[in-house]
Amino acid sequence: MAASIIDGKVIAADLRAQVAGEVTRMKRDHGLTPGLAVVLVGNDPASEVYVRSKHKQTQAAGMASFEHTLSADVAQADLLALIAELNADPAVHGILVQLPLPKRLDTGAVIAAIDPAKDVDGLHPHNAGRLAGGLPALSPCTPLGCIILTKSVHASLEGLDAIVLGRSNLVGRPLVQLLLNENVTVTIAHSRSRNLPELCRRADLVYAAVGKAEMVRGDWLKPGATVIDVGITRVPTVEGQTRLIGDVAFNEAMKVAGAVTPVPGGVGQMTVACLLVNTLRAACAIRGLPAPGV
Ligand code: GUN
Repeated sequence: MAASIIDGKVIAADLRAQVAGEVTRMKRDHGLTPGLAVVLVGNDPASEVYVRSKHKQTQAAGMASFEHTLSADVAQADLLALIAELNADPAVHGILVQLPLPKRLDTGAVIAAIDPAKDVDGLHPHNAGRLAGGLPALSPCTPLGCIILTKSVHASLEGLDAIVLGRSNLVGRPLVQLLLNENVTVTIAHSRSRNLPELCRRADLVYAAVGKAEMVRGDWLKPGATVIDVGITRVPTVEGQTRLIGDVAFNEAMKVAGAVTPVPGGVGQMTVACLLVNTLRAACAIRGLPAPGV
């Protein structure tokens, strides 16, 4: 029997609707409009697309959206000055600096300059450390989305075996911590791991976040496994266009797995929805209000 497709579009739309409902309630009961500031440096076309989508969805949820576009040759000091301004701005509850930054800028220093209370990307060492310590923290959006998608298949993740392919600060590492919080048994694999297919075949939950198109084959999967594909590789088509391909060979996975996320239409949809959730949570925490219902 073919696997079921996990529909990230539908799940993300439902989450955005819940956020919009909470925003309406915040405005009415507390006069609070959550605000998200997104900083884009340079004009990388893919980043521009992401930032535009964040802007649209933030506004659609009833939040305030502040966009700051800086030229690719901005000085590090000027970027830090903008972050200091946003840290001090009471209308801004979330700050996201779109990555990657131009190589000559010090990404670590830029992230470290963000007020941890406004770090809706969950990348500041304060939040990464709290997450690793099992403490409440703002957590990176893509891993949060992966957990929600997994829970759309499994009511409880307790005791399941997972493999996380990839150890980036943005996805792999925080995802491991979130899975541990769900009492999952986690294997962390990466470019130096041996016997990847064998490791994968043990897992009930497979998270592929390496950025290598169709690396995970159907025969790497345990029958019935849940497969969450974080990869997005843009490849040219014969018609001269481009299309997105995940880290998992989708058609092969569909014959073996129990449930699979498509690319596009899976994890990607969830990242921005979770950014809205984090902005809402940050706004409540900054105002001293109870955590929202989403
Ligand atoms: N670039 C690609 N994904 C992300 C993300 O989740 N956050 C940031 N800041 N930049 C990204």
